[in-house]
Amino acid sequence: MNHHHESIDLGVGLGLRGRHVAHVLDHRPEVGFFELLSENYMGTGGRGLETVERIADLYPTVLHGVSLSIGSSDPLDRAYLAELADLADRSGARWVSDHLCWTGVDGRNTHDLLPLPYDEPTLAYVGDRVRAVADILGRPLVLENPSSYFVAGSGCMPEPEFLGRLCDAADCRLLLDINNVYVSAVNHGIDAAHYIDTIPADRVVQVHLAGHRDLGTHLLDTHGDFVAGPVWDLYGRLLARTGRVSTLLEWDAEIPPFDVVWAEARKAVDYRAVASPASDARHVPAGAMDGGRTGGTPEAAADDREERRHAAAA
Ligand SMILES: [Fe+2]
Repeated sequence: MNHHHESIDLGVGLGLRGRHVAHVLDHRPEVGFFELLSENYMGTGGRGLETVERIADLYPTVLHGVSLSIGSSDPLDRAYLAELADLADRSGARWVSDHLCWTGVDGRNTHDLLPLPYDEPTLAYVGDRVRAVADILGRPLVLENPSSYFVAGSGCMPEPEFLGRLCDAADCRLLLDINNVYVSAVNHGIDAAHYIDTIPADRVVQVHLAGHRDLGTHLLDTHGDFVAGPVWDLYGRLLARTGRVSTLLEWDAEIPPFDVVWAEARKAVDYRAVASPASDARHVPAGAMDGGRTGGTPEAAADDREERRHAAAA
């Protein structure tokens, strides 16, 4: 597989939500990129694809799915993957991500993202599947660290170590969800800062930020609130290792008006301003550069937007 030793920093983006589409198309806010939820545009008989194409004409896009179930013992769903590859081509998605988890077995989807045991057999099994998926998609797979409420298995390696070994074995990239790191760390009594310090920084191509809810006994990953202070701190800590990396706010529940969500996402601009430019060593998904529908280079466009924002903010 082709390694580009350069980075694609798309700036600060948002997950595209249905209630915001009309606003975005009418006002064309200076969002760095939009993340599209893959399943929203699959199995719909073409409904929604017009929206995908209109957004993709205006903004860089990435695809994010929840149904891949890379850790399941079921065979890979080839029909799902073929449709996903087609959606990636239509949208010119810079990359395709899903979660490191399993979501069901024997064809039943539990609709939960369940954690995997981070042991050697799982590493080998998931690594083979990651490579197979990348072959079908024609682009590397980007995997997101899940939030978890229990630890699967015992005698397992720490999640950052598992992710690093998986990336090396299967040539995949990481979508690091900082809120998930924080939620899992608090729920399991793990040191979140140490997690950030040991993640393979050169594999991180995208960050997720999101809000959670404190239920007293544990934190719940709700995606329905502002980003918590400790999560912002961890984000800054990560940027010191990765340099500026494509950063996206997820807000999926009790979604406020667009301007509220975008103002929250733009807090990331200040953190990025004090970070170094993206690391030269970052592994960028092969094919990322030829998937774009928009003209010019996405990095240059993102830099321009970032600078305009700073000029406006100063
Ligand atoms: Fe996420």
